[in-house]
Amino acid sequence: MPCPDLYRRVMATDLLVRPLSPADLPSVLDIERQGYSYPWSEAVFLDCFKDSYRLWAVCHGEFLAGYAVVAYMVDEAHLLNICTHPQVRGKGIGRQLLRHLLSAASREGMSKLLLEVRASNEAAIGLYEVEGFREIGRRPGYYPAASGREDARVMALGLGR
Ligand SMILES: CC(C)(COP(=O)(O)OP(=O)(O)OC[C@H]1O[C@@H](n2cnc3c(N)ncnc32)[C@H](O)[C@@H]1OP(=O)(O)O)[C@@H](O)C(=O)NCCC(=O)NCCS
Repeated sequence: MPCPDLYRRVMATDLLVRPLSPADLPSVLDIERQGYSYPWSEAVFLDCFKDSYRLWAVCHGEFLAGYAVVAYMVDEAHLLNICTHPQVRGKGIGRQLLRHLLSAASREGMSKLLLEVRASNEAAIGLYEVEGFREIGRRPGYYPAASGREDARVMALGLGR
């Protein structure tokens, strides 16, 4: 499905967030490889189709604009992956997807959402901060990087109900 000409901010009502299905994986893998220097493999995604995981797709018509993977562990949700198509970034799609997965986690009884993010990932950190996440710690050398290893910032948001 070709990328639509989204020249402006997308209206929330133009987007649908729905559960991701294994049939979406070719599009997901295409976005994933453009989004990360160390992308997940198909096997890693397939391993997430389990009861304690939530996989979300955000769509504009037939076009898959992004996806997210969340793991539920007791009462904590962990955001393992969130990625939007490179041609439709900066249009509010990541924010809408994040808000959707947060409200689903809250509805399902999760008390907080935790995530790790590369310390150099300004776009993701900007999104998380504007949505209320705060840093609760760091994991030194957590990620592989071209120049050795890179720290993770651990961020959290309480899901008050
Ligand atoms: C992080 C990511 C999901 C953001 O998706 P997006 O659809 O571009 O985000 P949005 O358009 O909804 O942006 C929402 C807010 O995030 C912040 N933001 C987004 N891009 C930013 C950037 N490049 N720099 C700083 N802040 C940014 C802004 O506060 C923005 O709000 P504003 O447009 O009103 O100023 C996207 O950049 C991405 O897929 N990156 C590659 C994968 C990745 O790194 N995922 C995170 C792993 S932890």
